[in-house]
Amino acid sequence: MGWIIFILVVFAALLFFWFFPVLIGGIPWQPTDMRRVRKMLTMAQVKPDEVVYDLGCGDGRIVIAAVREFGAKAVGVEANPWLYLVSWIRIFLLGLWRSARVVLGNLYHQDLSQADVVTLFLFQHVNDHLEEKLKRELKPGARVVSYVWVFKNWEPSQVDTEGRLYLYEKERGRENVG
Ligand SMILES: C[S@@+](CC[C@H](N)C(=O)[O-])C[C@H]1O[C@@H](n2cnc3c(N)ncnc32)[C@H](O)[C@@H]1O
Repeated sequence: MGWIIFILVVFAALLFFWFFPVLIGGIPWQPTDMRRVRKMLTMAQVKPDEVVYDLGCGDGRIVIAAVREFGAKAVGVEANPWLYLVSWIRIFLLGLWRSARVVLGNLYHQDLSQADVVTLFLFQHVNDHLEEKLKRELKPGARVVSYVWVFKNWEPSQVDTEGRLYLYEKERGRENVG
């Protein structure tokens, strides 16, 4: 009986934290397939030592790919403590802690001024809310790649229709993001 209660409590906690991002204006976890992850980072032309932010990093797959395959520095932001832990453990076990880190928190409160590239797989209403923040905080030359959802008021510089990927660039000397 004790074991059943324990399993039920763990299950309820997992379910609660999976749903938790919705309560703070986000969406639950659904991973991007690795082929698409590479496509997103390739589209953004991630260069060695550039800083990549994945907003809502899930199990850390984009953060890890950015560091291992593109030589970037990467930061994941995640509201779900279980996924934060999974990302943290993966980064630690792969020995990537010098170049990768994960932040437990709300992506709306993350300072993005150091980002060269921002990746997102969120939801339309989240992108809508982020539009002003990205426009305000991103430096010239920064790129934003969004899977599925668009930024309604921005002109994408590249669209992968089949992959449902949208690339936006904040042009140097011109506020083209926004
Ligand atoms: C669709 S998943 C994408 C995960 C990962 N970026 C990928 O492509 O595999 C969205 C992630 O964002 C997280 N999330 C949603 N709203 C958030 C918020 N407001 N702050 C931080 N993380 C959030 C969810 O917990 C989930 O892990």
